[in-house]
Order: sequence, then C-alpha cells, then structure tokens
Amino acid sequence: MKNLLMVVVLILGLLVNFHCTDAFGHLRSVVGSSAGAIGEQPLSKIAIHKTTLALSDFASIQARPLLLGLKGEDTAWVVVDFVNEEPSNDDWIGVFSPAKFNASNCIVENNSEVQAPYTCSAPIKYKYANHSNPDYTSTKKASVRFQLINQREDFSFALFAGGLSNPKLKAISNSIAFANPKAPVYPRLAHGKSWDEVSYPD
Ligand SMILES: *[C@@H]1O[C@H](CO)[C@@H](O)[C@H](O)[C@H]1NC(C)=O
Ligand SMILES: *[C@@H]1O[C@H](CO)[C@@H](O)[C@H](O)[C@H]1NC(C)=O
Ligand SMILES: *[C@@H]1O[C@H](CO)[C@@H](O)[C@H](O)[C@H]1NC(C)=O
Repeated sequence: MKNLLMVVVLILGLLVNFHCTDAFGHLRSVVGSSAGAIGEQPLSKIAIHKTTLALSDFASIQARPLLLGLKGEDTAWVVVDFVNEEPSNDDWIGVFSPAKFNASNCIVENNSEVQAPYTCSAPIKYKYANHSNPDYTSTKKASVRFQLINQREDFSFALFAGGLSNPKLKAISNSIAFANPKAPVYPRLAHGKSWDEVSYPD
C-alpha cells in the first residue's frame, strides 16, 4: 500500500514537473492552454496566443499618470482612457508588464506575426471595456481604472476586440512606470513574467 502510494506520488510529481517545463518552454505562445490546465483564474480564459493584429486608426488608448508612486507608494491607481469607433461589448483592456519585451522570445507559427510583440505575453490583468461604462457601445469611448503594484517593470495597456477567446489587438497605450521601481514583493515563479505569477488586486 505504501509502495503504491509512493508510485502514485512519483508519477504525479513527474507529470507536474513535465507540465511546468513545458509551460515555461512555451510560456509566451501557449499561455492560453497551459492556463486552462493550471487553474481557474479569470486570466486563463484569455487565448492570448490566438491574438491577431488589428491595429486601427479608429481606436486609441492612453494611460495616466505617467509616473506612479511619487510619494513612495507601493500600489497606485491608473486611469486608462480609450476610444474605439467600432465599439463592442466584447472589447477589453489588458495590462502588460513589462511594457515592451523582446519579440524574438515569442514562439509563433508564422513569422509574419513576429512584429506583434504583445501577442506573446499574457496580460497580468484585464477588464471589459464596458466595465462601469454601460453606454460604451454608444459613446465609443470610456475609461477603466486599474490598481497596479510597484514592481521592476513598466506597464502598458492594450485595447482588444473579439473577446477573450479571439483577441484582436486594436491599440496600444503609452507606457507608465513607478518612480522608484522595486523588485517584486510578491512570490514569483522563477522564470517570471507568467500570467499567473502574481495575485493582483482588482
Ligand atoms: C459588458 O460586456 C460583457 C462581456 O462582453 C457582457 O457580458 C456584459 O453584458 C456587458 N455589459 C453591458 C452593460 O453591456
Ligand atoms: C532578443 O532576444 C534574442 C534571443 O534571445 C537576442 O539575440 C536579441 O539580442 C534580443 N534583442 C534585444 C533587443 O534585446
Ligand atoms: C505564413 O504566412 C504567409 C503569408 O500569410 C504564408 O504564405 C505562409 O505559408 C505562412 N507560413 C506558415 C508556416 O504558416
């Protein structure tokens, strides 16, 4: 009985280990599917690996203030204003950190998409564009607020259409940062920058 238990534990251990290795190896491209396997966090609904580029002259997004934590705060609220001439209740805003990263780390099936840096990393949090903006589809512009935690990297925001399962990148914001970036105060996975590494407050 004891031996059997050992074997089961061993197999489970191997499976978990394999899953993690696999997830890290392909983190940026398969975040959607690995997320589904790991847990039920809302972010796991985002099929970021399916993102297509749909940058539009009729959509824009801006984040303010540019500099956070001027009084040494560890968290800060930011306001993200956006305009979309083709608004939908499927539109959503994702928070990305770092704001920019090396696109060659992306694993993409078709190189023509490498130019889309944001398709490779899952957002650290998101809100629907109509969040606290019930009239968004008629006003075509709205704002959402996010609370950010001081960390080493800067932040940027992106407006997506197509819902979480079929994201279409419409616009990318300016980047913003904490005045005095800190090493992460929350537990992180060794490889960092994973969608599930930090429990951000809403
Ligand atoms: C906002 O969008 C979500 C997701 O598409 C939808 O479920 C919800 O009904 C929308 N809310 C309003 C007020 O339209
Ligand atoms: C991006 O990553 C690749 C491979 O890791 C490296 O060769 C390249 O120099 C990096 N580019 C930048 C701008 O950091
Ligand atoms: C990549 O896209 C180009 C043009 O859209 C296409 O011709 C090519 O076959 C694609 N390559 C792969 C590997 O899908």
